[in-house]
Amino acid sequence: MKRVTEITKGVHYVGANDRTTHRFEGLWPLPHGVSYNTYLIEDEKVALVDTIDAGFSERLLANIRGILGDRTVDYLIINHMEPDHSGAIHAVRQAYPGIRIVGNAKTLQMVEGYYGITENTLTVADGDTLQLGKRTLQFHFIPMVHWPETMVTLCAEEGLLFAGDAFGTFGTLDGGVTDVQLDAGCDTSKYWDEMVRYYANIVGKYGVPVQNAIKKLAPVLPLKVVCPTHGPVWTEHFPKVLDLYDRMSRWEPLERGVVIAYGSMYGNTEQTAERIARELAARGVTKIAMHNLTSSHASFVLRDIFKYSAVVLGSPTYNMELFPPVQALVEDIELRCIPSRVFACFGGFTWAGAAVKRLTAFAERAGWDLVAPGVEVKQGCTPANTDSCAILADAIVAKL
Ligand code: FEO
Repeated sequence: MKRVTEITKGVHYVGANDRTTHRFEGLWPLPHGVSYNTYLIEDEKVALVDTIDAGFSERLLANIRGILGDRTVDYLIINHMEPDHSGAIHAVRQAYPGIRIVGNAKTLQMVEGYYGITENTLTVADGDTLQLGKRTLQFHFIPMVHWPETMVTLCAEEGLLFAGDAFGTFGTLDGGVTDVQLDAGCDTSKYWDEMVRYYANIVGKYGVPVQNAIKKLAPVLPLKVVCPTHGPVWTEHFPKVLDLYDRMSRWEPLERGVVIAYGSMYGNTEQTAERIARELAARGVTKIAMHNLTSSHASFVLRDIFKYSAVVLGSPTYNMELFPPVQALVEDIELRCIPSRVFACFGGFTWAGAAVKRLTAFAERAGWDLVAPGVEVKQGCTPANTDSCAILADAIVAKL
């Protein structure tokens, strides 16, 4: 019986699942875990594409030995140097002392900087090829997706691309490895929402380099198999993945819907959020994502801001500024350079209001479309505030 991990004849998945790390990059929660994907190509020469997080070195080596037995590995091709993929370099060199490290000049500088390795390397230029036997590998640089050294490796004979972080997603590979084996194409699959969250948080700032990469790779499309460093190996469902990455990298909303993200100290600002949501629902908006920023991690809020066409932010006034979690979200949004969204805001205060002023200024800085004056609530919500919420909802729905 063919191994599940043999993607095409002689091309194997040798990566591992991580279900115990709480925060990816020390920042992003992993409710569905993450996979670190590593690939092994058996030909007249044997090549390993990327390594793995240092904590999974032994598992990687066991997976390689399970396929190669006593045969050696000739090349280590490094598409991406972030340590979740390069952390096992020392372990791999120890197991295969003759292995030659293949990377571009920026990669090899990082190999030296991180790991002190300068020997037995091969520097490649954009478009260079490496013959393994029946297969030819070709290297295409895609800088800033999402590090400067990043490249992808194409095996044109098989229509197969080793894509680095491009087209990746959070979520472990439970049993299967390819999208078809995992039923990853179905609408309820965990991978789609996690792909948006992965993109929004990790790659989101780099939309222009992603667009450049998509244009650069256009001549080699369509591909049969795309092997990213995280998440399923894409086969049948790659067109959907490519479309999603294309739209996200243009910061284009994926769905008609509204994110309402707010802070609230004693529930009064939250009450305004609830009223706005009800007014939107009364006008037929069915996709409404509510986030109380004291309990929602920013990564899920940013995911929804990439996903939906309208954003409503609310905050109490705190020390004459925004409530700190709202301020943090505003900074997270600005860091990702999202050029446009339909926008409205609201704020609560007791004796002097600043929140609406700050959120209005944010919309102006970001170039977002402020559709109505911010709703300001002094102390408790009143029927008059409900009227303001209705006006705000009318203005949002008119722009959705
Ligand atoms: Fe999965 Fe940018 O490393």
